[in-house]
Amino acid sequence: MHLHKYEKIWLSFGIVSLIVFLSVVGVSAFSQDHTPSGGMDMIDPEKVNETAPFDNPGVTQLDEDTYQVAIVALAFGYTAPDLRVPAGKEIIFKVTSTDVVHSFTIDNTKVNMMVVPGRITTKSYTFEEPGKYLILCNEYCGTGHHMMYTEIEVY
Ligand code: CUA
Repeated sequence: MHLHKYEKIWLSFGIVSLIVFLSVVGVSAFSQDHTPSGGMDMIDPEKVNETAPFDNPGVTQLDEDTYQVAIVALAFGYTAPDLRVPAGKEIIFKVTSTDVVHSFTIDNTKVNMMVVPGRITTKSYTFEEPGKYLILCNEYCGTGHHMMYTEIEVY
């Protein structure tokens, strides 16, 4: 088989780029311990309702300055009774899904998590300003995707 000179150059360039790319990903994953930003916690998606903290979803005060909010995302909404949290305190959101991939995105904040069945996604956030914040799903999850939102009140 005859390969043109330029073809050889571009093939080599492509192969070298691929090796560099995979090495960067591999080194950061295995030797620098990079993990998904939401943590590595796993959960059986069929047993969410009986697994802590999702057996008791909503807001739980952990100590003086820390609150935990457990939320289950499912088509098409969030099991999130009475989401009220104080401003200026650390809020640890723990979110999982029982069906497909959703997101948990709080408008005007840095909270924007991907919610994957089988995983618990965790994000810590401190609200500075009281008010009502819109929570919405920005991963297309089905025909009711645009109906998937709720609200959190910060007091
Ligand atoms: Cu859930 Cu889109």
